[in-house]
Amino acid sequence: MNTEMNLRFTESKARDTGLPGTDPEHEPKAGNEPPRASRRRRFLVTGGGGFVGSFLCERLLDAEHDVLCVDNFLTGQIENLKSVIARPGFRLLHHDITHPLHVEVDGIFNLACPASPVHYQSDPIRTTKINVQGALNVLGLAKRLHVPVLQASTSEVYGDPAVHPQAESYWGHVNPTGPRACYDEGKRCAETLFFDYHRQHGVSIKVARIFNTYGPRMSQHDGRVVSNMIVQALTGQDLTVYGDGQQTRSFCYVDDLVRGLMLLMETPGHVTGPINLGNPVEFTVHDLAHKVIKKTGSRCRVRFMPLPQDDPTRRRPDIAQAREILGWQPMVGLDAGLDRTIRYFDRVLKGGEPQRGDVASKASWLAVPLLDTA
Ligand SMILES: NC(=O)c1ccc[n+]([C@@H]2O[C@H](COP(=O)([O-])OP(=O)(O)OC[C@H]3O[C@@H](n4cnc5c(N)ncnc54)[C@H](O)[C@@H]3O)[C@@H](O)[C@H]2O)c1
Repeated sequence: MNTEMNLRFTESKARDTGLPGTDPEHEPKAGNEPPRASRRRRFLVTGGGGFVGSFLCERLLDAEHDVLCVDNFLTGQIENLKSVIARPGFRLLHHDITHPLHVEVDGIFNLACPASPVHYQSDPIRTTKINVQGALNVLGLAKRLHVPVLQASTSEVYGDPAVHPQAESYWGHVNPTGPRACYDEGKRCAETLFFDYHRQHGVSIKVARIFNTYGPRMSQHDGRVVSNMIVQALTGQDLTVYGDGQQTRSFCYVDDLVRGLMLLMETPGHVTGPINLGNPVEFTVHDLAHKVIKKTGSRCRVRFMPLPQDDPTRRRPDIAQAREILGWQPMVGLDAGLDRTIRYFDRVLKGGEPQRGDVASKASWLAVPLLDTA
């Protein structure tokens, strides 16, 4: 099958989509701007219609690059692209990265993969395939084009960590047969492929291990802990906390993460990673619930549910390498990030921001416990 024949290029014209406007939560903040382009390049962003990918597309355009966004909208939504769809230099390609891709670009960000447990566990075989076959396809493309390729890996490669905080030198503690393995082991295998393509074929690779990231444009239905609690609080439901709520997470605002990804792409060829990108300030899930209740002015309470299998008990990145190599550290604290995210979901719930109501309509996904990712 000639996959090129099946690729549907979408010229990015606002009048085609009816999606005008920009995201008010996404004005670049002083001191938090993405790196400027030294020369105009064309970047492929797989998974560009997702939560993180859509901000990355936006920031690459802000930095005067061209963007080819590739997505099959498995979990992403076209609404996420409303601020970029009409911009010059932006192109959208509807394509599944488990099929080879024949395009011409100067660099690749590989973000395509369902990221929330509710999504990635709904079709675990497909999740592994996206991670592994998708990695093979973007690496093959990078090899052919002689361009750098960045992999959006995850703190899930550390599993339920026996070492705290997690540095890149830690090999992890992952259950290879549990319900999270399709994602955790899929991402681990993708990292292996990246390093083998680097050693065997000299491909320039950049592996980012992303820790829990939140912000506007998360799907209201995908069960990630921040969006889940905010939506529950704004709709008057009790907030779900798994276990005793004493498990910890470190929450990174999406603008900070995207800046880190762009800085990593700009590093010289010998910088391969893996490199942790996340906020090292640690909160318990219980702390988060109370912050959300306070900030939303909700009268809701916390509802405790059994801890799902293999849910990590502690998560905090050691970002010494990111500080040293990239000069990067998060700049948006949890309070400021939550305020922006709450304002976004408030608009979504009042109908002012369209979101695709995809998960709730799929009965099989509802059987999966709502969890937090990475
Ligand atoms: N958000 C986080 O906290 C976090 C943490 C660790 C790692 N990551 C990684 O960052 C990346 C982006 O995460 P996100 O939070 O934006 O998730 P997301 O689900 O919002 O975005 C993923 C995007 O990939 C697309 N996609 C999935 N399968 C595809 C396929 N086969 N072909 C083409 N497109 C496909 C989806 O439609 C979606 O637009 C993922 O690779 C994820 O594993 C995210």
